[in-house]
Parts: sequence; C-alpha cells; structure tokens
Amino acid sequence: MATYPFTSALITGASSGIGESMANLLGQAGVATVLVARRTERLEQLADRYPGFEVLTADLNSTDDLATVVERIGSETDAIDLVVNNAGFGTSGMFHELDPDRLDDEIRLNVRALTRLAHAALRAMIPRGRGFLLNVSSMASFQPAPKLAVYAATKAYVTNLTESLHEETRGTGVHVTALCPGLTKTEFQSVSNSEAYASSYPAFAWLKVGDVAATGLADVAKGRALSIPGALYKGMSMAAGVTPRGLTRRLSSLVQRTAK
Ligand SMILES: NC(=O)c1ccc[n+]([C@@H]2O[C@H](COP(=O)([O-])OP(=O)(O)OC[C@H]3O[C@@H](n4cnc5c(N)ncnc54)[C@H](OP(=O)(O)O)[C@@H]3O)[C@@H](O)[C@H]2O)c1
Repeated sequence: MATYPFTSALITGASSGIGESMANLLGQAGVATVLVARRTERLEQLADRYPGFEVLTADLNSTDDLATVVERIGSETDAIDLVVNNAGFGTSGMFHELDPDRLDDEIRLNVRALTRLAHAALRAMIPRGRGFLLNVSSMASFQPAPKLAVYAATKAYVTNLTESLHEETRGTGVHVTALCPGLTKTEFQSVSNSEAYASSYPAFAWLKVGDVAATGLADVAKGRALSIPGALYKGMSMAAGVTPRGLTRRLSSLVQRTAK
C-alpha cells in the first residue's frame, strides 16, 4: 500500500474515473478526503468506505457552489494539504457544429473553476509553508487536437498555468503538479461523445485508471512539475517537444481522420 505525505485532501470530480480512483488510493492510505462532484449518491457510497471522508456536493459551474468549495479549501480549522483539481470534460466533433453553450460550460469547468480552486489552494497553503496541488490536464495539452479543439485548448491552459505555478511556488514548501494522462477508460469517452473515435485505438494505447491515479499522487508527492503516466506517453511528450509544430499539427489531424 502506498504512503503519502498528505494528511487531508480534497478531490473534485471524485464520483467517477480518475478522481474516484485517487479517492480510493487516499482512503486506503488513511488520508481523510473531501469528495466533490454533482452526484451525491456516488460520493456517499465512496465516503462510506473510509473513515474521515466528507461529501461536498457541488456543481463547479455554479458560482455559489464554487464559492462553497473555495471556502472549504481555505478552512484553517480543518486544513486541507492536497487539492486535486480533477473535474473536467471534453466535447468531440467539428467545432462549428458543436453547441456553443456546452463549450462555454466546458471552458468554465476546465479553466475558470480550476483556476479559482488553484488560487484558493495556494492562498491557504503558501502561508503555512506546506501543501500540494495536483491539476489534472491531458496529453492533449501538448499539441492541437482537431475535433477536440476546445478541450485541447483548455488543457493547454491547465498545463501552462500549472508549470508557471510550479516555478512560482519553488522554495515555499508547496508543490504544484500537472497530471497529463493519455487515453484512459472512464466515463470521459461517453460524456465527450468520443467513444467511436476512442474505440479505434489499439489496446496498448490505453492506460489503466488505477495506474493514472497512482502516478499522479506519487508525482505530486515527489514535487514533480509534470506527471505523465506510461512509457508510451512519456515518449510522445518528449517527441512533441522536439518535433516541428507544423508536423505535430498535421499528424494529430491525420490521427483524427483515420480514427473516424
Ligand atoms: N479519460 C481520459 O482519457 C482522460 C485523458 C486525459 C485527461 N483526462 C482528464 O481527467 C479528468 C477526469 O476525467 P475522467 O477521465 O475521470 O472522466 P469522468 O469519469 O467523466 O470523470 C469526470 C468527473 O468530473 C465531475 N464533473 C463533471 N462536471 C462537473 C461539474 N460541473 N461540477 C463538479 N464536478 C463535475 C464528474 O462528476 P459528476 O458528474 O458527478 O459531477 C466526474 O466525477 C478530467 O479533467 C479529464 O479531462 C481524462
């Protein structure tokens, strides 16, 4: 069983997928965790399994709910030393054909809510001289992703913001990490309407949700700037750094076309 330097945590998007898996790992390690998402029943079922778990039902696109989560992160009486900004979703399809209100919601969740909660976390942690912030980004943050264009753009924001904050917090005792998973089977595929496209990828391209969650928690504990689960994706991120931008763009467009 893993051990962590955290004593208490808050995870957004804890009702399924990567967030739920992280909550289980923290619960097994005895870390009291606040579970945030919209589906209360799912959170309650998870909370029943571990002592000290707390359910905080919140739609992070509601200003009032977001303020409640900000307040919980800032609590000094019941301090949280790991915040995982994990809630997020994508929308697959040709940009001009997608519902603009849904894209608005996607940007609000992936960018606005994440930024607000990151701010609340660092404001509470830096004066204490201790804390951990894990922002869940994506491999899609490293290159353009035609037909997941807004999603990739929101995740490029997340990786960029997180790397800046990683440097800003250097020497403060606070660690900030971006987790950048590749394909991971969760509810993400059905929510983003990318099931058909995703099913055309070979088995070796898929990461196990438990491995993604474990890698993210281990890397934020080590104070890494970037956490990239799996050798395949580590190699791809290195290649993206040295491949000319135009070629990367063309290749990701071809991948989308063949995967239709
Ligand atoms: N799966 C992949 O292939 C993959 C790859 C790279 C990155 N990621 C990223 O990993 C993160 C987790 O995704 P996942 O794959 O675990 O997908 P998932 O199973 O769909 O989980 C998404 C979580 O976000 C929560 N959520 C959605 N909208 C919310 C809102 N308005 N307010 C509060 N919570 C909300 C959902 O809970 P409720 O519906 O109960 O609110 C759910 O717990 C996301 O940021 C995603 O972009 C996923």
